[in-house]
Amino acid sequence: MVKAIEWKDGKVIMLDQSRLPVEVKFIDCTNYQIVAEGIKKLWIRGAPAIGIAAAMGIALGAQDITAKNYREFMKGLETVFSALLSTRPTAVNIKWAVERIKKLLKENKEESVSKLKMLLIEEAQKIHAEDIEVNKAIGRWGAQFIKDGDTVLTHCNAGSLATGGYGTATAPMFVAIEQGKKIQVIADETRPVLQGARLTAWELMQAGVPVTLITDNSAGALMKKGEINLAIVGTDRTVRNGDVANKIGTYSVAVLCREHKIPFYVAAPLSSIDFTISTGDKIPIEERGPEEVTHIFGACQIAPDGVKVRNMAFDVTPAKYITAIITEKGAFRPRDLKKLMKKDVNLDELRL
Ligand code: MRU
Repeated sequence: MVKAIEWKDGKVIMLDQSRLPVEVKFIDCTNYQIVAEGIKKLWIRGAPAIGIAAAMGIALGAQDITAKNYREFMKGLETVFSALLSTRPTAVNIKWAVERIKKLLKENKEESVSKLKMLLIEEAQKIHAEDIEVNKAIGRWGAQFIKDGDTVLTHCNAGSLATGGYGTATAPMFVAIEQGKKIQVIADETRPVLQGARLTAWELMQAGVPVTLITDNSAGALMKKGEINLAIVGTDRTVRNGDVANKIGTYSVAVLCREHKIPFYVAAPLSSIDFTISTGDKIPIEERGPEEVTHIFGACQIAPDGVKVRNMAFDVTPAKYITAIITEKGAFRPRDLKKLMKKDVNLDELRL
Protein backbone atom coordinates (compact mmCIF):
# COMPACT_ATOMS: atom_id res chain seq x y z
CA MET A 1 0.00 0.00 0.00
CA VAL A 2 1.26 3.51 -0.81
CA LYS A 3 2.98 5.41 2.00
CA ALA A 4 2.05 9.09 2.14
CA ILE A 5 4.65 9.93 4.77
CA GLU A 6 7.65 8.44 6.48
CA TRP A 7 10.32 9.43 8.99
CA LYS A 8 13.64 8.40 7.47
CA ASP A 9 17.25 9.31 8.29
CA GLY A 10 16.24 12.35 10.32
CA LYS A 11 13.95 13.70 7.61
CA VAL A 12 10.27 13.59 6.78
CA ILE A 13 9.67 12.04 3.39
CA MET A 14 6.35 13.18 1.98
CA LEU A 15 4.63 11.96 -1.16
CA ASP A 16 3.54 15.09 -3.05
CA GLN A 17 -0.14 14.22 -3.51
CA SER A 18 -0.81 17.41 -5.44
CA ARG A 19 0.98 15.82 -8.41
CA LEU A 20 -0.84 12.49 -8.33
CA PRO A 21 -1.70 10.50 -10.36
CA VAL A 22 0.45 11.99 -13.12
CA GLU A 23 3.67 12.02 -11.16
CA VAL A 24 4.85 10.10 -8.10
CA LYS A 25 7.30 12.46 -6.45
CA PHE A 26 8.59 12.42 -2.88
CA ILE A 27 9.69 15.57 -1.08
CA ASP A 28 12.44 15.54 1.55
CA CYS A 29 11.34 17.82 4.38
CA THR A 30 14.42 18.87 6.29
CA ASN A 31 12.72 21.39 8.57
CA TYR A 32 9.30 21.97 10.09
CA GLN A 33 8.60 24.93 7.79
CA ILE A 34 8.62 22.62 4.77
CA VAL A 35 6.26 20.23 6.57
CA ALA A 36 3.89 23.13 7.33
CA GLU A 37 4.08 24.27 3.71
CA GLY A 38 3.32 20.71 2.56
CA ILE A 39 0.20 20.57 4.75
CA LYS A 40 -1.02 23.96 3.49
CA LYS A 41 -0.39 23.14 -0.17
CA LEU A 42 -1.99 19.67 0.08
CA TRP A 43 1.23 17.76 -0.67
CA ILE A 44 -0.05 15.83 2.29
CA ARG A 45 -3.73 15.90 3.19
CA GLY A 46 -6.37 13.85 4.94
CA ALA A 47 -6.96 14.32 8.66
CA PRO A 48 -4.91 11.45 10.13
CA ALA A 49 -2.05 12.00 7.66
CA ILE A 50 -1.72 15.67 8.56
CA GLY A 51 -1.80 14.73 12.26
CA ILE A 52 1.14 12.41 11.63
CA ALA A 53 2.87 15.09 9.54
CA ALA A 54 2.42 17.59 12.38
CA ALA A 55 3.96 15.17 14.89
CA MET A 56 6.90 14.56 12.54
CA GLY A 57 7.20 18.31 11.89
CA ILE A 58 7.44 18.93 15.63
CA ALA A 59 10.13 16.24 15.97
CA LEU A 60 12.01 17.87 13.10
CA GLY A 61 11.64 21.39 14.50
CA ALA A 62 12.78 20.23 17.94
CA GLN A 63 16.15 19.06 16.61
CA ASP A 64 17.08 22.62 15.62
CA ILE A 65 16.26 24.20 18.98
CA THR A 66 19.28 25.20 21.02
CA ALA A 67 18.01 25.20 24.59
CA LYS A 68 19.67 24.39 27.88
CA ASN A 69 16.60 23.41 29.83
CA TYR A 70 12.96 22.32 29.57
CA ARG A 71 11.59 25.86 29.85
CA GLU A 72 13.75 27.20 26.99
CA PHE A 73 13.02 24.10 24.92
CA MET A 74 9.25 24.55 25.33
CA LYS A 75 9.57 28.22 24.40
CA GLY A 76 11.33 27.24 21.18
CA LEU A 77 8.71 24.61 20.45
CA GLU A 78 5.82 27.09 20.78
CA THR A 79 6.79 28.60 17.40
CA VAL A 80 6.76 25.15 15.83
CA PHE A 81 3.39 24.28 17.39
CA SER A 82 1.74 27.46 16.16
CA ALA A 83 3.20 27.16 12.65
CA LEU A 84 1.69 23.68 12.32
CA LEU A 85 -1.59 24.54 14.04
CA SER A 86 -2.15 27.46 11.67
CA THR A 87 -1.91 25.34 8.51
CA ARG A 88 -5.41 23.88 8.20
CA PRO A 89 -8.20 24.54 10.69
CA THR A 90 -10.83 21.85 10.18
CA ALA A 91 -9.06 18.54 10.79
CA VAL A 92 -8.70 18.15 14.53
CA ASN A 93 -5.81 15.71 14.17
CA ILE A 94 -3.16 18.45 14.15
CA LYS A 95 -4.44 19.77 17.48
CA TRP A 96 -4.72 16.20 18.74
CA ALA A 97 -1.07 15.50 17.85
CA VAL A 98 0.17 18.77 19.42
CA GLU A 99 -1.73 18.06 22.65
CA ARG A 100 -0.46 14.49 22.83
CA ILE A 101 3.11 15.74 22.39
CA LYS A 102 2.72 18.50 24.99
CA LYS A 103 1.48 15.91 27.49
CA LEU A 104 4.45 13.64 26.75
CA LEU A 105 6.88 16.51 27.23
CA LYS A 106 5.26 17.51 30.52
CA GLU A 107 5.51 13.96 31.80
CA ASN A 108 9.22 13.95 30.93
CA LYS A 109 10.13 17.49 31.99
CA GLU A 110 12.96 16.25 34.20
CA GLU A 111 14.77 14.70 31.23
CA SER A 112 17.61 16.42 29.36
CA VAL A 113 16.87 18.42 26.20
CA SER A 114 18.68 15.85 24.05
CA LYS A 115 16.54 13.05 25.55
CA LEU A 116 13.39 15.10 24.90
CA LYS A 117 14.42 15.54 21.27
CA MET A 118 14.79 11.79 20.93
CA LEU A 119 11.43 11.16 22.61
CA LEU A 120 9.75 13.41 20.04
CA ILE A 121 11.12 11.40 17.15
CA GLU A 122 9.97 8.19 18.81
CA GLU A 123 6.52 9.63 19.53
CA ALA A 124 6.02 10.77 15.93
CA GLN A 125 6.89 7.28 14.69
CA LYS A 126 4.58 5.78 17.33
CA ILE A 127 1.69 8.00 16.21
CA HIS A 128 2.30 6.82 12.64
CA ALA A 129 2.44 3.12 13.56
CA GLU A 130 -0.62 3.36 15.82
CA ASP A 131 -2.63 5.03 13.06
CA ILE A 132 -2.14 2.03 10.80
CA GLU A 133 -3.38 -0.32 13.55
CA VAL A 134 -6.35 2.00 14.23
CA ASN A 135 -7.27 1.88 10.53
CA LYS A 136 -7.16 -1.91 10.54
CA ALA A 137 -9.42 -2.03 13.60
CA ILE A 138 -11.87 0.34 11.85
CA GLY A 139 -11.79 -2.11 8.96
CA ARG A 140 -12.63 -5.07 11.21
CA TRP A 141 -15.57 -3.25 12.85
CA GLY A 142 -16.80 -1.79 9.58
CA ALA A 143 -16.65 -4.82 7.29
CA GLN A 144 -19.87 -6.21 8.82
CA PHE A 145 -21.82 -3.46 7.03
CA ILE A 146 -20.63 -4.53 3.58
CA LYS A 147 -22.33 -7.54 2.03
CA ASP A 148 -21.07 -9.76 -0.75
CA GLY A 149 -21.91 -8.07 -4.06
CA ASP A 150 -22.30 -4.57 -2.60
CA THR A 151 -21.34 -1.35 -4.34
CA VAL A 152 -19.91 1.21 -1.93
CA LEU A 153 -19.88 4.93 -2.63
CA THR A 154 -17.10 7.04 -1.17
CA HIS A 155 -16.37 10.75 -1.30
CA CYS A 156 -12.97 12.47 -1.35
CA ASN A 157 -10.03 10.34 -0.25
CA ALA A 158 -10.02 8.63 3.13
CA GLY A 159 -7.65 5.90 1.99
CA SER A 160 -4.04 5.03 2.70
CA LEU A 161 -2.92 8.37 1.22
CA ALA A 162 -4.98 10.21 3.85
CA THR A 163 -3.66 8.19 6.78
CA GLY A 164 -0.61 6.35 8.03
CA GLY A 165 -1.65 3.52 5.70
CA TYR A 166 -4.74 1.36 4.97
CA GLY A 167 -7.17 4.30 5.26
CA THR A 168 -10.28 4.83 7.35
CA ALA A 169 -13.19 4.72 4.88
CA THR A 170 -11.31 2.23 2.71
CA ALA A 171 -10.44 -0.07 5.63
CA PRO A 172 -13.87 -1.81 5.83
CA MET A 173 -13.66 -2.31 2.06
CA PHE A 174 -10.23 -3.97 2.34
CA VAL A 175 -11.37 -6.22 5.18
CA ALA A 176 -14.58 -7.13 3.32
CA ILE A 177 -12.44 -8.16 0.33
CA GLU A 178 -10.11 -10.13 2.63
CA GLN A 179 -13.26 -11.91 3.89
CA GLY A 180 -13.95 -13.03 0.34
CA LYS A 181 -16.75 -10.59 -0.44
CA LYS A 182 -16.92 -9.31 -4.00
CA ILE A 183 -17.44 -5.56 -3.89
CA GLN A 184 -17.31 -2.56 -6.18
CA VAL A 185 -16.38 0.96 -5.18
CA ILE A 186 -17.73 4.15 -6.69
CA ALA A 187 -15.51 7.19 -6.16
CA ASP A 188 -16.95 10.69 -6.36
CA GLU A 189 -14.45 12.83 -8.25
CA THR A 190 -14.66 15.43 -5.43
CA ARG A 191 -14.37 18.93 -6.81
CA PRO A 192 -12.57 21.25 -6.62
CA VAL A 193 -9.21 19.50 -6.21
CA LEU A 194 -10.38 16.04 -7.20
CA GLN A 195 -9.13 13.87 -4.37
CA GLY A 196 -11.59 11.17 -5.47
CA ALA A 197 -10.48 11.14 -9.10
CA ARG A 198 -6.77 11.67 -8.55
CA LEU A 199 -6.21 9.80 -5.28
CA THR A 200 -8.99 7.35 -4.36
CA ALA A 201 -9.31 5.97 -7.89
CA TRP A 202 -5.52 5.73 -8.15
CA GLU A 203 -4.87 4.00 -4.85
CA LEU A 204 -7.80 1.57 -5.18
CA MET A 205 -6.61 0.60 -8.65
CA GLN A 206 -3.10 0.04 -7.23
CA ALA A 207 -4.63 -2.19 -4.55
CA GLY A 208 -6.65 -4.14 -7.13
CA VAL A 209 -10.05 -2.96 -5.85
CA PRO A 210 -12.66 -2.56 -8.63
CA VAL A 211 -13.40 1.17 -8.74
CA THR A 212 -15.58 3.35 -10.95
CA LEU A 213 -15.12 7.10 -11.06
CA ILE A 214 -18.17 9.38 -11.26
CA THR A 215 -18.70 13.12 -11.32
CA ASP A 216 -19.97 14.49 -8.03
CA ASN A 217 -23.38 15.22 -9.48
CA SER A 218 -23.93 11.62 -10.61
CA ALA A 219 -24.37 10.03 -7.19
CA GLY A 220 -28.11 10.79 -6.87
CA ALA A 221 -28.93 9.34 -10.28
CA LEU A 222 -27.03 6.13 -9.49
CA MET A 223 -28.76 5.81 -6.14
CA LYS A 224 -32.13 6.20 -7.85
CA LYS A 225 -31.19 3.38 -10.22
CA GLY A 226 -30.39 1.18 -7.22
CA GLU A 227 -26.71 0.97 -8.11
CA ILE A 228 -25.33 2.02 -4.72
CA ASN A 229 -25.84 -0.10 -1.60
CA LEU A 230 -24.06 1.98 1.01
CA ALA A 231 -21.76 4.96 1.45
CA ILE A 232 -18.65 5.19 3.63
CA VAL A 233 -16.72 8.41 4.09
CA GLY A 234 -14.01 9.72 6.39
CA THR A 235 -14.04 12.73 8.67
CA ASP A 236 -11.85 15.70 9.53
CA ARG A 237 -13.59 16.38 12.79
CA THR A 238 -16.50 14.59 14.39
CA VAL A 239 -17.99 16.19 17.49
CA ARG A 240 -19.78 15.13 20.67
CA ASN A 241 -23.32 15.01 19.26
CA GLY A 242 -22.19 12.93 16.26
CA ASP A 243 -22.13 15.75 13.68
CA VAL A 244 -19.38 15.13 11.12
CA ALA A 245 -17.18 17.57 9.21
CA ASN A 246 -15.74 16.10 6.04
CA LYS A 247 -14.89 17.16 2.49
CA ILE A 248 -17.37 19.53 0.89
CA GLY A 249 -20.14 17.52 -0.75
CA THR A 250 -20.33 14.91 2.00
CA TYR A 251 -23.50 16.50 3.36
CA SER A 252 -25.18 16.27 -0.06
CA VAL A 253 -24.23 12.58 -0.30
CA ALA A 254 -25.69 11.93 3.17
CA VAL A 255 -28.98 13.67 2.31
CA LEU A 256 -29.19 11.71 -0.95
CA CYS A 257 -28.58 8.48 0.96
CA ARG A 258 -31.45 9.30 3.33
CA GLU A 259 -33.80 10.00 0.41
CA HIS A 260 -32.90 6.64 -1.15
CA LYS A 261 -32.82 4.69 2.15
CA ILE A 262 -29.14 3.88 1.71
CA PRO A 263 -27.02 3.49 4.87
CA PHE A 264 -24.42 6.23 5.32
CA TYR A 265 -21.37 5.39 7.44
CA VAL A 266 -18.53 7.54 8.72
CA ALA A 267 -15.16 5.97 9.52
CA ALA A 268 -13.72 8.05 12.36
CA PRO A 269 -10.56 7.24 14.30
CA LEU A 270 -10.73 8.59 17.86
CA SER A 271 -7.96 11.02 16.87
CA SER A 272 -10.53 12.74 14.62
CA ILE A 273 -13.20 13.00 17.32
CA ASP A 274 -13.27 16.32 19.14
CA PHE A 275 -15.13 15.78 22.39
CA THR A 276 -14.53 19.42 23.38
CA ILE A 277 -17.04 20.64 20.79
CA SER A 278 -20.75 20.00 21.32
CA THR A 279 -22.24 20.51 17.84
CA GLY A 280 -21.08 20.67 14.23
CA ASP A 281 -21.88 24.36 13.74
CA LYS A 282 -18.93 25.18 16.02
CA ILE A 283 -16.38 23.39 13.80
CA PRO A 284 -14.07 25.84 12.00
CA ILE A 285 -14.49 25.37 8.26
CA GLU A 286 -11.51 26.06 6.03
CA GLU A 287 -12.15 28.34 3.06
CA ARG A 288 -9.55 28.13 0.31
CA GLY A 289 -8.53 30.40 -2.54
CA PRO A 290 -10.78 30.97 -5.60
CA GLU A 291 -8.22 29.62 -8.08
CA GLU A 292 -9.03 26.03 -7.04
CA VAL A 293 -12.53 26.65 -8.44
CA THR A 294 -11.79 28.95 -11.37
CA HIS A 295 -8.87 26.94 -12.73
CA ILE A 296 -7.96 23.29 -13.11
CA PHE A 297 -4.69 23.08 -11.20
CA GLY A 298 -3.70 26.61 -12.07
CA ALA A 299 -3.34 25.65 -15.70
CA CYS A 300 -6.70 25.74 -17.41
CA GLN A 301 -9.14 28.55 -16.73
CA ILE A 302 -12.76 27.39 -16.46
CA ALA A 303 -14.53 30.50 -15.11
CA PRO A 304 -14.60 34.16 -16.08
CA ASP A 305 -11.91 36.49 -14.76
CA GLY A 306 -12.92 38.15 -11.52
CA VAL A 307 -15.96 35.96 -10.82
CA LYS A 308 -16.93 35.85 -7.14
CA VAL A 309 -16.12 32.42 -5.68
CA ARG A 310 -16.98 30.63 -2.44
CA ASN A 311 -14.60 27.70 -1.84
CA MET A 312 -15.47 25.92 1.40
CA ALA A 313 -13.21 22.90 1.77
CA PHE A 314 -15.52 21.06 4.19
CA ASP A 315 -19.15 20.78 5.23
CA VAL A 316 -20.92 19.39 8.26
CA THR A 317 -23.27 16.43 8.05
CA PRO A 318 -25.76 16.42 10.92
CA ALA A 319 -25.77 13.27 13.04
CA LYS A 320 -29.37 12.44 12.01
CA TYR A 321 -28.18 11.43 8.53
CA ILE A 322 -25.50 9.06 9.80
CA THR A 323 -26.27 5.37 10.23
CA ALA A 324 -23.14 4.64 12.27
CA ILE A 325 -19.76 6.04 13.16
CA ILE A 326 -17.09 3.39 12.83
CA THR A 327 -14.15 3.84 15.19
CA GLU A 328 -11.30 1.56 16.25
CA LYS A 329 -13.36 0.70 19.34
CA GLY A 330 -16.43 -0.36 17.40
CA ALA A 331 -19.30 1.09 15.37
CA PHE A 332 -21.71 3.32 17.25
CA ARG A 333 -24.88 5.30 16.71
CA PRO A 334 -23.90 8.97 16.42
CA ARG A 335 -25.99 9.81 19.49
CA ASP A 336 -23.97 7.32 21.57
CA LEU A 337 -20.63 8.86 20.67
CA LYS A 338 -20.51 11.11 23.72
CA LYS A 339 -20.81 8.05 25.97
CA LEU A 340 -17.30 7.03 24.84
CA MET A 341 -16.00 9.88 27.02
CA LYS A 342 -17.12 8.06 30.17
CA LYS A 343 -14.45 5.97 31.86
CA ASP A 344 -16.83 3.17 32.95
CA VAL A 345 -18.63 2.86 29.61
CA ASN A 346 -19.65 -0.65 28.57
CA LEU A 347 -18.73 -0.68 24.88
CA ASP A 348 -20.44 -4.04 24.25
CA GLU A 349 -23.79 -2.47 25.11
CA LEU A 350 -23.23 0.44 22.74
CA ARG A 351 -21.71 -1.31 19.73
CA LEU A 352 -23.80 -1.97 16.65
O1 MRU B 1 -8.84 18.55 1.92
P1 MRU B 1 -8.44 17.15 2.25
O2 MRU B 1 -8.00 16.36 1.07
O3 MRU B 1 -7.44 17.11 3.38
O4 MRU B 1 -9.78 16.48 2.80
C1 MRU B 1 -9.72 15.16 3.25
C2 MRU B 1 -11.03 14.62 3.69
O5 MRU B 1 -12.05 15.29 3.67
C3 MRU B 1 -11.03 13.22 4.23
O6 MRU B 1 -12.25 12.59 3.96
C4 MRU B 1 -10.81 13.25 5.74
O7 MRU B 1 -9.67 14.02 6.06
C5 MRU B 1 -10.65 11.90 6.32
S1 MRU B 1 -9.16 11.13 5.83
C6 MRU B 1 -9.10 9.61 6.57
